[in-house]
Amino acid sequence: MSRFVFPRWTNKTPMLAGAVLGGAPVYLTFLIWFGFSPKTLDVGYMPEQPVPYSHALHAGELGIDCRYCHTTVEKGAAAGVPPAETCMNCHQRVKKESKKLLPIRESYTTGAPVEWVKIHDLGDFSYFNHSAHVTRGIGCVSCHGRVDQMVEVYQHEPLSMGWCLDCHRNPDPHLRPPEEVTNMTWEPPEDATTYGKSLREKRNINPSEDCSTCHR
Ligand code: HEC
Ligand code: HEC
Ligand code: HEC
Ligand code: HEC
Ligand code: HEC
Repeated sequence: MSRFVFPRWTNKTPMLAGAVLGGAPVYLTFLIWFGFSPKTLDVGYMPEQPVPYSHALHAGELGIDCRYCHTTVEKGAAAGVPPAETCMNCHQRVKKESKKLLPIRESYTTGAPVEWVKIHDLGDFSYFNHSAHVTRGIGCVSCHGRVDQMVEVYQHEPLSMGWCLDCHRNPDPHLRPPEEVTNMTWEPPEDATTYGKSLREKRNINPSEDCSTCHR
């Protein structure tokens, strides 16, 4: 819960926080507006990773499908992050001496997982499920942005309750055929809302707003 008290950047910049605290009323307004506003939680969060793995290169230029690595995204609650074996399918041959890939080779030999830093992280009191969204036709891009253009992944959406509910109340503009969910450049054949409405009615899609859907 600590992130409801102080925005995450204050951990890294106590000096700055101290300086701003000097002007407490201003700081409080700032904190309430940017820290608690349900639209701005952690957007842009981009921690440093142990390996400079680029989605722009692998998912963008090389065109590897998201599901090649995030193998459980259609079957389970979590999308999953790939083990070193998946990387070594290629990197046993490609760039096999690269220093940047040292932690991958180590993990491959020792079996100890690579310590990727989790970027998207809901509080324990909220429940999320990938397969429930992806199999009903919500694309990765709706919640994660243009990952295929990100050299380093960052959090694109607030993942706040207000953000979840905005779509649960009106999913139409976000719906697409389930086979297109990993296609980052998919466009609806007609106006997105009209097309989404027809998909929703045909497939009987009805996202719930009950508290127990997300807090169980
Ligand atoms: C070749 C493997 C590979 C492919 C293909 C791939 N990813 Fe990833 N993805 C990773 C790895 C490794 C990480 C963890 C390191 C990082 O965050 O960059 C990750 C992290 C992520 C994260 C952040 C996870 C977190 O910690 O919150 C998202 C979101 C994501 N990927 C989405 C996608 C999407 C969308 C696609 C398809 C457009 C995709 N990935 C394709 C390997 C892959
Ligand atoms: C389908 C094949 C394939 C897979 C799977 C793959 N890569 Fe790559 N990777 C490449 C290619 C091709 C390059 C670019 C090589 C070049 O620049 O000549 C590359 C480059 C890299 C580089 C830059 C290396 C350097 O020295 O510049 C890193 C780091 C990297 N990959 C990490 C990963 C990680 C981590 C995974 C697993 C999550 C992974 N790759 C999975 C094909 C792959
Ligand atoms: C409806 C919104 C939504 C959609 C659609 C979605 N994600 Fe996510 N994703 C999230 C949320 C929320 C989290 C954080 C989950 C948590 O902390 O429990 C997350 C976390 C992740 C992670 C981190 C590891 C994990 O499983 O928690 C990866 C990787 C990821 N998503 C990849 C993808 C890929 C690939 C797709 C498309 C095939 C996708 N996501 C579609 C909302 C979404
Ligand atoms: C872009 C649209 C969109 C966003 C954003 C979104 N959802 Fe959903 N959600 C849906 C749709 C569509 C369904 C599927 C409804 C159906 O199957 O009838 C769904 C279903 C679910 C389910 C499954 C309910 C069940 O009956 O199993 C859960 C849980 C859920 N959402 C939680 C969340 C949470 C938590 C967030 C925010 C972190 C979120 N959703 C954000 C569109 C969205
Ligand atoms: C579609 C999913 C969803 C539904 C439905 C939902 N919540 Fe939430 N709720 C969330 C998410 C996501 C968060 C924020 C979690 C985080 O930031 O880590 C949240 C946060 C909260 C919080 C913490 C304070 C805050 O504002 O961040 C409370 C209290 C709460 N919800 C109560 C409720 C109640 C009561 C209902 C029913 C009227 C409800 N929720 C329905 C997803 C949902």
